[in-house]
Amino acid sequence: MAGSTFGTLLSITTWGESHGKGIGVVIDGCPAGLPLAEEDIQLYLNRRRPGQSRFTTPRVEADQAEILSGVFEGKTTGTPISLMVRNTSQRSKDYSEIASYYRPGHADYTYDKKYGFRDYAGGGRSSGRETIGRVAAGAVAAKILAELGVSVRAYAKSIGPVSIDYSRFDPAQALENPVCMPDADAAVQAMDYLDQCRKNQDSAGGVVECIIKGLPAGIGEPCFDKLSANLAKAVCSIGAVKGFEIGDGFAAARSNGSVNNDAFHAEADGRIGKLTNHAGGVLGGISDGSDVVFRAAFKPTASISAEQQTVSRSGENITVSVRGRHDPIIVPRAVVVVECMAALTVLDLMMVGMTSRLDRIRAFWKNVREED
Ligand SMILES: Cc1cc2nc3c(=O)[nH]c(=O)nc-3n(C[C@H](O)[C@H](O)[C@H](O)COP(=O)(O)O)c2cc1C
Repeated sequence: MAGSTFGTLLSITTWGESHGKGIGVVIDGCPAGLPLAEEDIQLYLNRRRPGQSRFTTPRVEADQAEILSGVFEGKTTGTPISLMVRNTSQRSKDYSEIASYYRPGHADYTYDKKYGFRDYAGGGRSSGRETIGRVAAGAVAAKILAELGVSVRAYAKSIGPVSIDYSRFDPAQALENPVCMPDADAAVQAMDYLDQCRKNQDSAGGVVECIIKGLPAGIGEPCFDKLSANLAKAVCSIGAVKGFEIGDGFAAARSNGSVNNDAFHAEADGRIGKLTNHAGGVLGGISDGSDVVFRAAFKPTASISAEQQTVSRSGENITVSVRGRHDPIIVPRAVVVVECMAALTVLDLMMVGMTSRLDRIRAFWKNVREED
């Protein structure tokens, strides 16, 4: 199975299945000298952990992080960091039924076509549990970014038909309510809507918004590794993501240049700023110094207990009601996944960008020589 690695200079390789012994990640390219403890990673994993509210799968997992390599006396050594979470609540019998048919909206059919057989227990690699490795690695990236003055924050912008009202925007709320909305009133409405969906044995989708602050101008490569392109790949590689937009995104297609262009202006300190941010902080694939703002659209969870039509592995038309433990909505648990994929993308491009200017390379090595 190719394609489990992401990143150029800071790369991650995730491994493991939903109902295997464990799930993890190898981070390569993390600089030496970062203080790192399992608690740093746990803080992030806890935000993704299942079983925390009636709006997540009832599967209860501690998702305890273990650092297997790359850290010595509390600091990263510059060698590959291997992080692991053991699965403790596998109930593969819940999924034995799925072995015999293709869940509508899930990856069962395409995995069978691609590999000739599949790990049907909990969806194998197509399970949301694959994102544990991303979140563990993202916690490390976020810690490095904090040292560089860059922060990445995501939250639920909408759930089903309920959207946050920016006049009530309160970032602390997103960490407090079970639907991760930065608007307490919208969160209550979203929870009512989700309760209705659950009563109907149905699921719901939503939009996650992410803001990257403190990113200097100049991050991102001009062609295939544009900041926007790498963010899109990072985010669209998360299961159930069906849309990505940066800045005004699809709304920009209905705008006019006179409105959509962000006017530049000179700040009092001589720096160049923008009066608006329709571009979402990226021009020509390169950060422009404003906040980077993007959104990811998540579809409703595929595995629902309402009856649906499908086809069995042996080719018969059948009706199914999907059993097992599933998230009635993916968005609240995916918020931290989006945040972590953004942190990994930005840090990787910051590292890649360190070679773009001879004057800076010269200054870097001059500094090294002076230290020696
Ligand atoms: C954090 C997270 C949790 C998920 N939980 C479930 C779940 O409980 N049930 C389900 O059917 N899909 C779940 N998914 C979505 C599936 O992984 C995804 O829909 C599936 O792999 C098919 O891929 P696609 O939707 O991108 O086409 C979850 C995804 C994420 C990121």
